[in-house]
Amino acid sequence: MSDMPPSKDTLSNLLAEDRRFPPPSGLAAEANVTASAYAEAASDRIAFWEEQARRLDWGRPWTSALEWDPPFAKWFNGGLLNVAVNAVDRHVDAGHGDQVAIHWEGEPGDTRTITYAQLKDEVCKAANALVELGVRAGDRVMIYLPMIPEAVFAMLACARLGAPHSVVFGGFSAEALRNRIEDARARILITADGGFRRGKPNALKPAADEAAEGTGIERVLVVRRTGEAVPFTEGRDVWWHDVVDRQPSAHTPEYFDAEQPLFILYTSGTTAKPKGILHTSGGYLTQAAYTHHAVFDLKPDTDVYWCAADIGWVTGHTYIVYGPLANRATQVMYEGTPDTPHRGRFWEIIQKYKVTLLYTAPTTIRTFMKWGDDIPAKFDLSSLRLLGSVGEPINPEAWIWYRDTIGGGRTPVVDTWWQTETGAIMISPLPGVTAAKPGSAQVALPGIAADVVDGDGVPVPDGGGGYLVLTEPWPSMLRGIWGDPERYADTYWSRFAEQGFYFAGDGAKKDGDGDLWLLGRVDDVMNVSGHRISTTEVESALVSNPQVAEAAVVGATDPTTGQGIVAFVILRGGTADKGPELAAELREHVAREIGPIAKPRQILVVPELPKTRSGKIMRRLLRDVAENRSLGDVTTLQDSSVMDLIAAKLPTSKED
Ligand code: WTA
Repeated sequence: MSDMPPSKDTLSNLLAEDRRFPPPSGLAAEANVTASAYAEAASDRIAFWEEQARRLDWGRPWTSALEWDPPFAKWFNGGLLNVAVNAVDRHVDAGHGDQVAIHWEGEPGDTRTITYAQLKDEVCKAANALVELGVRAGDRVMIYLPMIPEAVFAMLACARLGAPHSVVFGGFSAEALRNRIEDARARILITADGGFRRGKPNALKPAADEAAEGTGIERVLVVRRTGEAVPFTEGRDVWWHDVVDRQPSAHTPEYFDAEQPLFILYTSGTTAKPKGILHTSGGYLTQAAYTHHAVFDLKPDTDVYWCAADIGWVTGHTYIVYGPLANRATQVMYEGTPDTPHRGRFWEIIQKYKVTLLYTAPTTIRTFMKWGDDIPAKFDLSSLRLLGSVGEPINPEAWIWYRDTIGGGRTPVVDTWWQTETGAIMISPLPGVTAAKPGSAQVALPGIAADVVDGDGVPVPDGGGGYLVLTEPWPSMLRGIWGDPERYADTYWSRFAEQGFYFAGDGAKKDGDGDLWLLGRVDDVMNVSGHRISTTEVESALVSNPQVAEAAVVGATDPTTGQGIVAFVILRGGTADKGPELAAELREHVAREIGPIAKPRQILVVPELPKTRSGKIMRRLLRDVAENRSLGDVTTLQDSSVMDLIAAKLPTSKED
């Protein structure tokens, strides 16, 4: 354990990890981006981003690269471009019309193959249809769709028209959709009868109707996916196949200002009303395309890329739609869940399409660990050459499992840190450059400036922990919170106002080499006898025990230590719950890995953990359980029965 004195404003740096994985030599020799990019960007950050912006087709070049009136930025001002043309038309014009853009796999097993030429036709037809329905540049269009190709067509059609879209995850309720419709003041909603999930049709239209009722929504464009009967409001609702299919496949694109709003994506804060995170066009697309090229090392002629996120999250926006398509990727898009019809579905898809690059979340990786190694072992995963992770800190053991069991021990793993607000990846290894450390996002990408500071905004030395900040503006940064500039300034820029830093809300540490380790949201930090301990480190220590697949820890009020650590663990497939013996073993294990200070006071073996719909653990609810309180707001919980399962475990598993 560390000898660091307890400090009020920094995080203790406890867990040490010294395994290293240098890039495979073949990948390093052919890598899209080499080590020189760091020096190049450091010598002139703005010129570096201008060079990246030239990856795009501009109708007119920008007159200034960055206008920075903190905290308001304009990138590539004066430039004109059309985002959809950059994602689609230009590839067709360059002779790649026959290249597959999307291999779509429906959950029931139906498939669609969409070339870039077909994608262009579909986007143009959808754009023409939206114009017929009254959409003009600047109008907000709500999209509430399952993972079907029309979601991509709809987003790109909006982009083509300069009409910002706001995609709402199909798993959100009518109430959530309604709040977002009202906040965005949208007049058009694009939805579907439903989608397939866990082997069944999952209706969307009834929720869309309930949400639209009494709002400003004038027209609803409905995709037929499941074929189930749905309510239909004459005069307001129209079928996609009636309106879009009869449109001409030619559409003359208009060029828009680099700062034209591209989308609003709502993030649910823990309590307050959702924040409409606003992204614009030129800077966003520049960083989306550059980071996708650099971090995934995409070779458009040979790679098959798969980002297994939902289009309703920022990961789907940037790394299914805008980044990959701007880079002319061939990609897989999958409608359903990883366990339908069997727990090997992901690996079957990888085998079928010979996927080379896979991007998914730690929560999914840990679920696969829990299901057992024998499932992926049944499939040929030898096409994979790179694996990515996003959404949460990835525990070193999950990282190693991902590399070994899925990547056959050959593939680099890139742990990518970013947020809805940052728009694109900010901190990540470069697969052909970085000697990877399991569990570390490592360094800011070329052109990005990040640091870890103490409560006064002073950078912590190597080996120290504190708050992760971004110290310079970046092209894909959020431009604001829709309709609320004050909340924008207050939420992100007030904590370190004096220094002008963007505060991300995450804790982080620098190791002895200055590499960055994300430690989770600062609201989750525990304080045990004056030591500020990150939940992530204790969780990673627990997951490093071979019996544990997943862990969530929280600090519960403790009369002697201030807070005591309570751990909720899910066991790996095939591991028996030995009761108190197991708990004692795990407590000893944590003491060995981190130090006695981090030893959980209590360990509960649970079948599931409460997660948000994007897979993040809701520690707030676990704190309620640990402190025997009634549960707070559970509306963002993915599966509300989980809390009953956990509560049922309580009386028998008390320690000490
Ligand atoms: C967390 C997802 C550690 C972090 C793109 C961040 C991560 C929040 C990582 C944003 C990572 C995301 N390591 N933590 N590689 N990636 N996070 O807006 O707490 O859904 O602030 O964007 O996820 O989540 P969001």
